[in-house]
Amino acid sequence: MCGIVGYVGERAALPILLSSLRRIEYRGYDSCGILVQDNARGEVHLYKGLKSISDLIQNLDVAQFPGTIGIAHTRWATHGVPSERNAHPHLDCNEEIAVVHNGIIENFRSLREGILHNCLFHSETDTEVIPHLIEKTLVNLRREKPHTYTGDEELLMAVMREALPCLKGSYAIIVAVKGFDGLIAARRESPLIIGVGDRENFIASDVPAVLEQTNRVIYLEEGDIALVKKDQIYIENMDGGEEVRRGASLISWTIEDAEKGGYEHFMLKEIHEEPKAIINTLREYLTETGIELGIRAELMDKGKGTGSGTGAGTGTGAGTASPSLLMVACGTSFYAAQCGKYIIEHLSGIPVHVELASEFNYSDFVLAPDDVTVIGITQSGETADTLMALKKAKRFGCHTVAITNVLGSSATRIADETIYIRAGPEIGVAATKSFIAQLAILYLLGLHLGRARISEHEFMEWIEELKRMPQVAQMVLDDTEAVARRYATYLAGFENVFFVGRGVNLPVAFEGALKLKEISYIHAEGYAAGELKHGPFALLTPDTPVVAILSRDNVYEKTLGNIKEMKSRDAPVLALAVEGDEEVGKYVDGVIYVPDTEPILSPIPNTVALHLLAYWTARARGCEIDKPRNLAKSVTVE
Ligand code: G6P
Repeated sequence: MCGIVGYVGERAALPILLSSLRRIEYRGYDSCGILVQDNARGEVHLYKGLKSISDLIQNLDVAQFPGTIGIAHTRWATHGVPSERNAHPHLDCNEEIAVVHNGIIENFRSLREGILHNCLFHSETDTEVIPHLIEKTLVNLRREKPHTYTGDEELLMAVMREALPCLKGSYAIIVAVKGFDGLIAARRESPLIIGVGDRENFIASDVPAVLEQTNRVIYLEEGDIALVKKDQIYIENMDGGEEVRRGASLISWTIEDAEKGGYEHFMLKEIHEEPKAIINTLREYLTETGIELGIRAELMDKGKGTGSGTGAGTGTGAGTASPSLLMVACGTSFYAAQCGKYIIEHLSGIPVHVELASEFNYSDFVLAPDDVTVIGITQSGETADTLMALKKAKRFGCHTVAITNVLGSSATRIADETIYIRAGPEIGVAATKSFIAQLAILYLLGLHLGRARISEHEFMEWIEELKRMPQVAQMVLDDTEAVARRYATYLAGFENVFFVGRGVNLPVAFEGALKLKEISYIHAEGYAAGELKHGPFALLTPDTPVVAILSRDNVYEKTLGNIKEMKSRDAPVLALAVEGDEEVGKYVDGVIYVPDTEPILSPIPNTVALHLLAYWTARARGCEIDKPRNLAKSVTVE
């Protein structure tokens, strides 16, 4: 996804911008560009490149150009193919105003054909309307009110105030103006931060982009316009048009936290951090007497009088029957939400409804605000579909909660309340430790909501079992990785794999399949173990292995029966089973054993094992892993 950075100070901007761009490479991109401005010499240099930042660096003599102001961009194409022409920064007709942009300008066509019809456009992007619009507004203001503004700063802020409301859609932008000794930044629905330095300042879409330079960060809020000079940061908000004060936060995580730490890939490092992600998340919310999630007490009232059982369906039909909790999410977070349904219903008896955010947003679903709390689960806190879903829930008047990993992310600003998972920065595009930390939160939430219906003794027993989960995850890493690696080498030779599970392990099967397909490019499908016979059996051959999750739960025998059916269709079956399960070994071609837990907690060990299996399969196939083709870590468009 696009990333933007800006620098204004006394040092040469080019090397700083290049290294900042490298820090946000993990977001995924298809082209990049940099503009550096040397006001003393009245020069502006523009560099654009397809492919990687390393390629761009190779073609640049970093020492050659001393400009101390600059903006830069990594692009993930949405309007216009990846090309140098479409790469940012984009300029106005006079090549004096340059803009980098993250987001989508929805009304760019009507602007191009309307008030900007006289402008010469060089790209197919939506972004290019922004410099033209700024230029046009600047010309108009100079003409209409030639004596109103005392200097460049006042004039440029007035221009932004007038131009930005013409843009519909989402944006985080940085604007450089030739001859001006600062940068202007603005945001609407896309994240943007200012890194505060000493006689220099940085602007970026992501904290890691500035962390090498400073750990003091100002999070810009919705509608903020900031004027940033080397020794001055002035912020006003479009709503009030007045100056607003935004304090700087100290970022406690270091660049090392975000680097590979000796592992070949971020993904492997992050799988190995899964025990720590559970520990940190539990630590944050477990107190001596119970669980303190820091959310409104009313959420607990939803449990009262609901009774037990799994009342909610998972369809998307229209209607007014509101479940007590609705979870919305995308990708891996959606599978965490689906696990959450089983977990919360099991632990609290509260019906939970789960929706893909992208489907919920355009459904005829009607929510009754008094009955339903809407929980958006999003690792990044920036997934456009999930943000929209939270906004829709708010329009219904529902209470909203974000579960996210990223402090100050957009989800936290939209939702009424936030519960942070404590996974630490996740760089690998494929989500791993964030999924497991989301599960940890969902267990806490389930117990929190269910506390009223179980005895104190039972509650404390659950807590003790939950506290054992980091150790269980560690045992999988210590004892299972070599086995998983062996089976991964075997799976790497196939082009189609099924993952099956039942109950709370059905979404885990989905997650196992998603992980395998996104990083190894093997076609993998997650399926309910009992459903395979209703169609997919037609695909079972000796060339279609099945990975079957088998937990010691109330459907153990049924799942074993399903496995026997698959075996008799000649499919090789690899089981993921609980230590000590001798029975399953009789019917399958291989077993990966994981530690025994309460069945509802079995997604923890099973997920760690499946993440390892996916990783080592992709590795056996020589795939890129951390940056799978066509994928982005954070998808900020619908
Ligand atoms: C992208 C990522 C996935 C992630 C999904 C949802 O597609 O590639 O790994 O699961 O977005 O992201 P979120 O940040 O909302 O959890």
